[in-house]
Formats: sequence, C-alpha cells, structure tokens
Amino acid sequence: MEVIIKATYEDMSRAAAQEVARILNTKPNAVLGMATGSTPLGLYRELVRMHRDEGLDFSQVTTFNLDEYVGLRPSHPQSYHFFMHENFFKHVNVPKQNIYIPSGSTNNYPSFCAWYEQRIEECGGIDLQILGIGSDGHVAFNEPGSSLTSRTRLKTLARQTIEDNARFFERREDVPIYAITMGVGTILEARELLLCANGKNKAWAVAAAIEGPVTGMVTASALQMHPHAKVFLDSDAAGELKMRAYYDWIEERRPGAPRYN
Ligand code: F6R
Repeated sequence: MEVIIKATYEDMSRAAAQEVARILNTKPNAVLGMATGSTPLGLYRELVRMHRDEGLDFSQVTTFNLDEYVGLRPSHPQSYHFFMHENFFKHVNVPKQNIYIPSGSTNNYPSFCAWYEQRIEECGGIDLQILGIGSDGHVAFNEPGSSLTSRTRLKTLARQTIEDNARFFERREDVPIYAITMGVGTILEARELLLCANGKNKAWAVAAAIEGPVTGMVTASALQMHPHAKVFLDSDAAGELKMRAYYDWIEERRPGAPRYN
C-alpha cells in the first residue's frame, strides 16, 4: 500500500485527481468505481476543472458507484444518484448509458445485486476504484463484521454510520437504515484502489486500516491485501499513523527511486 500525505484537503484532492487522469490518459475507456460522501467532493471538483480547462475526456468512460441508500428515490437530494449527478456527472461528459449506480428502490434486491456484479464483469472489471473510509473503518457500506469476500448486497448500516451521516439530513430519523453496497470482495477485484481520507475524525480508522491487522472489523484494512492500493490523506487524517515519518521519507525519496518501467 502506498500512503501519500498532503498538508491540506485541497492538495490531497488534487493529487488523487492526478491518479484518475493518469488512468484516463493511458486508457480512455477506463471503468471507474465512484464513491460519494463529503471526502471525494474536492476530487470531483478537480476532475470537473480538468475536464473544463484541460480537456480531460470522459466520453468513453464507464462508471460504477459503490453504494446507494435503500428507500430513497433517485431524485431525493440525499440519494447517491442525486449526489453524483449534482457533483460530477452533470459537469463532465460520461455518456448516460455508461453510468451505473445501485438501485435503492428495486423490488428484488438479490437479483439486482447479481445483475450489478455481472455488469461490472461484462464491462471488463473496474480499473480504478475510488474509496472513502467511515469513522468505523468501513469501505463502501461494508460495516464492521462484514466478510472480506463479500459481494454486492443489502446491508444494515451501523449506528455509528447513521450518526455520521445524519449531518446530511434534516432529521436523524430520516437517515436510511439500509443500503445496497458493493462487497469487500467486489472492491478487491478492481485493478487499482484509491482511498482518500481527511479530517481528525478519520485518524483512528485510517491508522487501523493501514497499520492494524487485516480484519472484517475494519473492512478498509482489506486494502492491505491489494497489490495496487494508494491512500491519500490530509495531515489530520494521518494523525495517528505510527509510521508517518517513513511514509513522508518515501515521498521525499520518490524522485530518485529506481523505476520499473
Ligand atoms: C460512500 C461510501 C462510504 C463513505 C464513507 C465516508 O459512497 O462508500 O464508505 O466513503 O462513509 O463518508 P464521508 O466522506 O462523508 O466521510
């Protein structure tokens, strides 16, 4: 796992956007895995800017979102459908028919989940999966106790996640209790993983994910099993890392490091 620590949220977002651009420059028809929440907002802003100012092209891109709340219509302002449209899709040129977001309103979840997995496979698998991390260490909505081989399925949100996400809703009772989410196994099949985290409230989860044991109790720790996982942090989120000095040292020495290609 590569750990890249930037001073600010903006720097972190710009560095993460460069990773997405790198993929698109080498593979214009890449399949991108998308995340929602407050963390990737800066990354999406930067990608939108690169599309507008530098011609970063999404016309051949396919996207699969990680998750969606159950029970919210796509037009609900807190649905992830709405979030993605407002913060990303309406500003770039991903073809509508190439956008996949789990349905929060299907009447057959098992068959929807199986179809979603099948579509990912038919599209050639995910080239780069963008991830955030919950304060309980979850990736997507794979809450503590999830299997590290899990696939797309319906999940009951942990109380901690409901508390954390209440800030987006008018009333705490409005936060959905269930979500449909890619599994940890699904995520681990992406060719590259890009996890971003910022803020002090993520410091514990980040340290547990990067430096703790691999465990279903902190599903982001499964990234340790992935051969191409990069973690971008701001300095607050890096606050509890024991090996911080080493990660900074690696970054410092990177320009002179031998290259494989
Ligand atoms: C969202 C997702 C979640 C969030 C996580 C952090 O699609 O999969 O795992 O990444 O809950 O959310 P924020 O960024 O709002 O702190």
